[in-house]
Formats: sequence, C-alpha cells, structure tokens
Amino acid sequence: MDIINQPLQMQQRALAEKRAGRTISFVPTMGYLHAGHLSLLEEGRRRGDVLVLSIFVNPTQFGQGEDFEDYPRDLERDQALAAQAGVDIIFAPGAREMYPSGYATYVDVEGITETLCGASRPGHFRGVTTVVTKLFTIVQPDVAIFGEKDFQQLAVIRRMTADLNLPVKIVGMPIYREVDGLAMSSRNVYLTPDQRRQALVLSQSLHEARTMVASGHNDAAMIIRQVQIRISAQPDARVDYVRICHCLTLEDQSVVDENSVLLLAVFVGQTRLIDNAVLVAAQ
Ligand code: PAF
Repeated sequence: MDIINQPLQMQQRALAEKRAGRTISFVPTMGYLHAGHLSLLEEGRRRGDVLVLSIFVNPTQFGQGEDFEDYPRDLERDQALAAQAGVDIIFAPGAREMYPSGYATYVDVEGITETLCGASRPGHFRGVTTVVTKLFTIVQPDVAIFGEKDFQQLAVIRRMTADLNLPVKIVGMPIYREVDGLAMSSRNVYLTPDQRRQALVLSQSLHEARTMVASGHNDAAMIIRQVQIRISAQPDARVDYVRICHCLTLEDQSVVDENSVLLLAVFVGQTRLIDNAVLVAAQ
C-alpha cells in the first residue's frame, strides 16, 4: 500500500494506472475509520482494479465554531485498517497542498444544498462539493463510493456529478449501524456513555416512524411531531431538524409515499448526529 501526500504525484499515479488499463475505485473520507468506512472500502475493492482511499479533514466544509480542530484523527490506525481492507493507495494531503496560498475556486450546487444540513451549516456543502471535485480531478476515479448516512451529501454529489458531466459513477452504500442501532460515525467518540445511550433515540425514532407507516399512517406532519416528542424526551437531546422529504429532490412531503425519507439531525450534548431511513419498506 502506498501513501501519497502530494496532489500532483497522486494525479500522475492515477493517470498512469488508467493508461495501463486499470480502473480506479475511490473512497473519500476524513479518516478515523470505522466499520462503516470499511464497508465502503469492501465495495470499492469489488468495483475497481486499484482502490484509493483519501484521508483529508477538509477545513472548507466546517463552519466557525464547528469541530474542525477537534475532529478525531489517527492516521497510524487508519493506515493499518486500510491495509487490512486491501487499499492500494492512501491519498492523505495536507490543507496547504489542497488549498495553497491564493486559492480562489469553489464549486456551488444550488437548490438542494440550501435545505436541511445546508440551512443549519451555511457553506458546508460548498466546502464538500469543492473538495470532492478536487479529489475527483486528482484521483481520476471510475467509481466513487459514499455512505447513505450523509443522505443529503450523496444527493448533492450525484447532482454535481451529473451537472458537470464528471466521468465517475457514484455509488451509495447503506448505513452501517452498531448492534444497538446507532449509526456509525467518527463523531460518536465525542459522546459520553450517557449521551451514547440517549443517542439511540435517533435510530429508535426512525424505527417507530417506519412502524407507523407500516400500520397505515401517512400524514407526514403527525409522524414528524411524534418523532420530535420522542427525541425531546431525552434530557441532552436537541432537535436540529426532523423532516420527511422526497428522496431525490429533498423537497418536503406532506403525505408519505414510497419516495419518502425521514431525515434527522439532533444535537446530543454538543455533538450533532444525523441519521435517516426510507419510510416505506421495499417490497
Ligand atoms: O463524508 C465525508 O467524510 C466528507 O464530507 C467527504 C466526502 C470526504 C468530503 O470531505
């Protein structure tokens, strides 16, 4: 497994791999790998000849007062996990390599970036789309794999890839959960044991909403109210948003149908957690 820090070196290696007829699959991450990331890498291993993992805590997607400085980092551990997962190349640039002095170019996706996490975290998606475009240009992937936990991020990246005719196939992978239901996230390490217990309210609320839909309820406002009440019963939980949206457009829905996804963002203590589920079980 090679570790590359320089964008130009990574790009030259990627172009050489392609000239040699090998396909590249790519898993972009901010590191501090967990089992969810490993499931993306496993899929990547299946889908390409050369598997590239990027590890870059991207400063432009963090707002003021967010956790950029504190974001968990452990490159040594990540390297060991990546090697076990069959990664061929880790691309781990520094912020100065990705955003050298004088950097002035950003990618903006309109519309679907303005709601949900985009409304709560202004500028976040501009940072994500900019860095993902740069990573795609550097790594030259045929396939890129993202987790569905960041449901809106995946929708934004799909939109951007289609709009800019980027020659990469975007693959979404199901949310990976702890045995008790908590969605895997690098930020779960911030939770105290008591907050960790309270955080289960996210997956439990999704489960309850799906059960309500399965038993015939389809009034989105009523389901949202139930979920809000359930979350607010936890002493350290504060709702950022609870929304039922169309899975492609992310527009709010008043009546639940097979396209509905319930999206949650909840602060548990200082930690902002997100989770989601489609509401109508697949046949
Ligand atoms: O999902 C993430 O870890 C990040 O948003 C991404 C896609 C690696 C961009 O920094």
